[in-house]
Amino acid sequence: MIIILFGAPGVGKGTQADILAGTLNIAHLSTGDAFRTAIKTQTEVGLIAKRFVDAGDLVPDDVTARIVEEALARPEFTNGAILDGFPRTRVQAEALDQILARREKSIAVVVNLDVSDEQIIKRLLARGRADDTEEVIKNRLAVYNQETAPLLDLYAKRSLLAHVDGIGTVPEVAQRILDVVNQKR
Ligand code: AP5
Ligand code: MG
Repeated sequence: MIIILFGAPGVGKGTQADILAGTLNIAHLSTGDAFRTAIKTQTEVGLIAKRFVDAGDLVPDDVTARIVEEALARPEFTNGAILDGFPRTRVQAEALDQILARREKSIAVVVNLDVSDEQIIKRLLARGRADDTEEVIKNRLAVYNQETAPLLDLYAKRSLLAHVDGIGTVPEVAQRILDVVNQKR
C-alpha cells in the first residue's frame, strides 16, 4: 500500500508517518530525513542538497526522484511505503507515477494534514532543527504554498485526497489518519 502524508512544514508528517508505519507494518520514507542523513555522511547527494536544505528551498527534482526510486527498490518497501515530504512539485508527482507504474503499484490515499501557519511556526520554533529558524521556516512555508500546495488539486481530481485535522494530541491525529486509511484498505 502506498500512502502519502501531505502538508506544510511542521504539520506532523514525520511524527504521524512513524506511528502509521508501526501500526500498518509499512516502511516510512522521508525525503527530508534522507537528505539530512546524506548531508551528515557527506555523500554526493548530500553535497548537492546541503545549500537547498539549509535555505529551506527544494532540492532539484531529478536528485529527489532518484533517491526515492532507489529507496523504493529496497526490500523493506516491497509491501508499500508511507511517503513523507514527497512529492512536492508537479514534476515529482509525475516521477512518482512513473516509479510506481514500473513497480506495478499505485497510490492508495493522499492524507493532507491541516494545521494553521501560526501553530506550525510555534511547533517548529519549539523543535529547533537546523532549518527551524524563523527566516527559514517562512521560506519553507512560502515554497510549500507556491510549489507543493497546488498538488492538492491534482490528487483531489484523482479522488485520492483526504483531509485530516492536524490539531490535537499526537494519538488523536494518528487515530484520524488510521480511520481514513482503513476506508481505503
Ligand atoms: P522535511 O524534512 O520534509 O521538512 P518539512 O516538510 O519542512 O517538515 P518537517 O519535517 O519540519 O515537519 P513534519 O510535517 O514532518 O512535522 P513533524 O512530525 O516533524 O524537508 C526538509 C528539507 O528537505 C526541505 O526544506 C527541502 O530542502 C528538502 N526536501 C525534502 N523533501 C523534498 C522534496 N520532495 N523535494 C525537494 N526537496 C525536499 O512535527 C513538527 C514538530 O511538531 C515536532 O517537534 C513534533 O514533535 C511536533 N508535533 C507533531 N505533532 C504534533 C501535535 N499533534 N501537536 C503538537 N505538536 C506536534
Ligand atoms: Mg518531517
